[in-house]
Formats: sequence, C-alpha cells, structure tokens
Amino acid sequence: MQKIAVVGSLNMDCVIETPAMPKAGETIAGRSVAQVPGGKGANQAYAIAKLGGDVQMIGAVGTDSCGIILKKNLECVGVRTEGLAVLEGESTGQAFITVDDQGENSIIIIAGTNGLVSKEMIEENRHLIEESDIVIMQLEIPLEVVEYVKELAIELGKLVIVDPAPAVEGIPDHFWKGIDFIKPNETELAILTGQEKNGLEDLKEGAEQMLNKGVKNVLVSMGGEGCLLVNKKEARFFPAHKVKPVDTTAAGDCFTAGFALALSQGKTCEEAIAFGQKASAIAVTRKGAQTSIPTMEEVESC
Ligand code: RIB
Repeated sequence: MQKIAVVGSLNMDCVIETPAMPKAGETIAGRSVAQVPGGKGANQAYAIAKLGGDVQMIGAVGTDSCGIILKKNLECVGVRTEGLAVLEGESTGQAFITVDDQGENSIIIIAGTNGLVSKEMIEENRHLIEESDIVIMQLEIPLEVVEYVKELAIELGKLVIVDPAPAVEGIPDHFWKGIDFIKPNETELAILTGQEKNGLEDLKEGAEQMLNKGVKNVLVSMGGEGCLLVNKKEARFFPAHKVKPVDTTAAGDCFTAGFALALSQGKTCEEAIAFGQKASAIAVTRKGAQTSIPTMEEVESC
C-alpha cells in the first residue's frame, strides 16, 4: 500500500442544528450545539486512517484544549502526526457550522493556527513528503504554502490531489499547473471559473477550463446527484448512491479520502471514485465531520 500525506487544516467544529437557516436579520431558535473534530485536512486524514490507509498529517494546532483534542482524535485512528506542529500560545482553527433539517450546512471558518502553516514548516517536514506517494491538500491553509507543497510534490514525482475548498476568486493560473486531480463541488467550480454552472454540459465546460489551466483531471462533486470526471480523454458521470442525508458536513472530505485510499491500494480511477462515493454516502447519513466517517467493513457492505 502506498503512503499518503495530507497537508492542510484542522478545526474544532461548533455545530448548531437548526430547523432552517436563518435569513438576513432574522433570529431563530436552534435545536442543539456540539463540538466535533473537523477541518478539511484533518477530516481527510482521519478518514484515510479509519479506512485502513497509511497517512501522515502535516499542519498546525495550538496548545489550547481544542488542539490537544484534535491531535489525539487523529492519533486514535492511526494518523501519524509527526508533521503536526503544536504552536505555543496560539489558537487552533475553528469552524462554525449550521446544519438544517435537510442535512445541508453552511460553514464559517476562523483560521487560527491553520493560517500560520508556513513554507518553513513544510521544509522541516520535507522528509515526510519525500516518503509519501500521494499528497492531498485543500485551501484552508495559506495559498502560497499549498502552491509550494504542490511544486515540491510534483518535483518529487508524487500524485497530487487538491480539494479547492474553500474556493476563492482570482487564483493565478500557474497554481493549477501539474495537479493530477482537483475535486471542486459545483459552487466551487463556479467560483474558480467565474461562471454559474447548470447541468452536466455546463459543468463539463467549467472542468475543461480548469484542464486548460494545467490540471490533469477534474472530479466535480454534485452532492446527492453524483460526480463528473473530466480529463483530456473523457467526460464521465458517476451517479451517487441514493440515501437520506442527515448532515452533509465532511461528505466531500470522505469522498476525497476514499478516492485517495483506493488509489493508494492500486485501484483504478473508476474503482477509486466508486469507493469514495460509497464512503461519502454513508457519511451523509451521520452527524458531524470526523464522527460521520465509516470503517472499511461498513463501506464494503454498502
Ligand atoms: O469539509 C467540512 C469541514 O469544513 C468542517 O469539518 C469544517 O471544519 C470546515 O473545515
């Protein structure tokens, strides 16, 4: 089995369950509030380890209680945390998440220590990237650090997967060059291309714009519909498993993790997509981020 490095964010999620999202200027009564380990990077590393993969987390937390809990939670499922900096006196990243009765969420993040991840930290952990075969990143740490890792990983011949979330406008074209896979959802693809996308043809066109910037494969996740793989050879739609969503938080992270894990086990791209879809279909039927991640046995019996 190949080794995976996740370079990215860790957040303590503060999750509010509410019947519906409040409108601007409206006050509503929520149902519950809970703290759950999260952060796109940490969710992906946690899911890979829980599914049986060999994974290293590179990122940063603070010395506050949230940082200690997040680090322990990763270690509990076997994530290697040698590359995780614990920064004295700094506050760990946080996410404020609202989940409604349809299982849809909206998220506000406060970067905390995620914003302090630096090129120097990456250099200190260069050996961990050197010994990995697959490198996964998201956009919750500084963009210049993500690009630095991408360049290093490509130079070292690694497979590079970028989950471009949260998507922001104005990312320079050179950022995308040489990335093996990106996995935007429909909203993120619209932000990255500057155009609203409706329907498969539009999404394919948006994905092709990303291919023209130098990405090799685009995997557009379409929520409960499925996902679309677009590369220079083909555009292929993979329908999703039909489930009743309870909470979609981290469903995309679970997909990315399952996809990368399957690739690390020598599966084809199509098999890896199918595995990621099964894993995320289970995750959306459960509450929370890391609390929703299934085991390999659960995915196999899905
Ligand atoms: O993808 C879900 C994650 O996004 C949450 O766990 C939250 O921390 C934000 O990073």
